[in-house]
Amino acid sequence: MLKKKNWRDMIGPSAWVIDGAFVMHIVSVINYKGGVGKTTVTTNLAGELAWRGYKILMIDLDPQASLTFSFIRPEDWKNLFSDNKTIKNSFDALLAGTSSPLANLILEPKRAKTVLSGRGKLDLICSHLGLINVDLELATLLGGANMKQSKQNFLKVHRRLADGLSQIPSDQYDLVLIDCPPNFNIVTKTAIVASDFILIPTRPDYLSTLGIDYLIKNVSSLVEDYNDYAQENTGSYTPEIQPAALGVLFNMIQERSDDPIRTQHNYMQQVRAQSGLNVFDSYIKRNDTIFARAPETGVPLVLNGYTSGTYKNVVDGLEEVASEFANQIGLI
Ligand SMILES: Nc1ncnc2c1ncn2[C@@H]1O[C@H](COP(=O)(O)OP(=O)(O)OP(=O)(O)O)[C@@H](O)[C@H]1O
Ligand SMILES: [Mg+2]
Repeated sequence: MLKKKNWRDMIGPSAWVIDGAFVMHIVSVINYKGGVGKTTVTTNLAGELAWRGYKILMIDLDPQASLTFSFIRPEDWKNLFSDNKTIKNSFDALLAGTSSPLANLILEPKRAKTVLSGRGKLDLICSHLGLINVDLELATLLGGANMKQSKQNFLKVHRRLADGLSQIPSDQYDLVLIDCPPNFNIVTKTAIVASDFILIPTRPDYLSTLGIDYLIKNVSSLVEDYNDYAQENTGSYTPEIQPAALGVLFNMIQERSDDPIRTQHNYMQQVRAQSGLNVFDSYIKRNDTIFARAPETGVPLVLNGYTSGTYKNVVDGLEEVASEFANQIGLI
């Protein structure tokens, strides 16, 4: 069933070591706009890079749990993981003032593991449908008796994911990919605070591209507030954050003669010219049938073994995206 190109077998991890220390890069996949492909991008980047030999951890921060259900059957999630092995356990522990190390929440989706047959590592921290209420509860932790206390609480809540990830030894993973929900609530902000990079998938249409500026402004203002508070935090040392915008990745591109159709090409050019952000040269092609079916298999589309011409065309595109992404973050 597995049919992959040989060249990919030869591109192994370039031992991601800087000055003798392993580096675990953390990337948030984010856009306010729903349905632009955040989960699809997370799934397929993770799958492709694991195939190339990298060690990947995916974190599902969206209460819709689409990433989770792209790897885990809903009945397994309910029976095996929903009570004590989802990201909600980490936030619940914060609310309860107890601990819940992220390492205890990690699982290895079986169907994907089988297809990877020993290559790389593809782990997941599941989401929970109840995560939708967590934002409101976290908001209650933000107040304080005085300004100083409020700022310390702000840092503590927003560092939840960053602190959790900092406890995972950096040689365990080359890359952590965080699939964010389509909002800018506290849980999403914990992803940005934890991240080295943010990746912004979008569709080539007016409404989808409209929100990119707004997203960047909100990220900048979060980073500014956070760093102000971190500098003032005399209680304990709190590192400043500097998540870099990796760029905009276009999804659902329709091609004619191997190029995006004119209207979509225009949107891509517009974002390139106006956003001030890097726009990926590679993009994800649109194919409703193939993408709609993929999550049910429990294996990222890019790793499924279909051999038809249409499928290959889509997979070639995903592989190019993964290569450009890996290059951007210094993985190759
Ligand atoms: N390139 C594509 N071609 C066709 N359909 C696609 C493509 N990419 C994603 N889809 C479909 O579009 C829908 C939305 O994709 P996805 O769930 O990845 O977006 P999202 O940004 O994560 O959404 P949400 O904001 O709800 O989390 C899904 O049904 C998916 O199968
Ligand atoms: Mg999603």
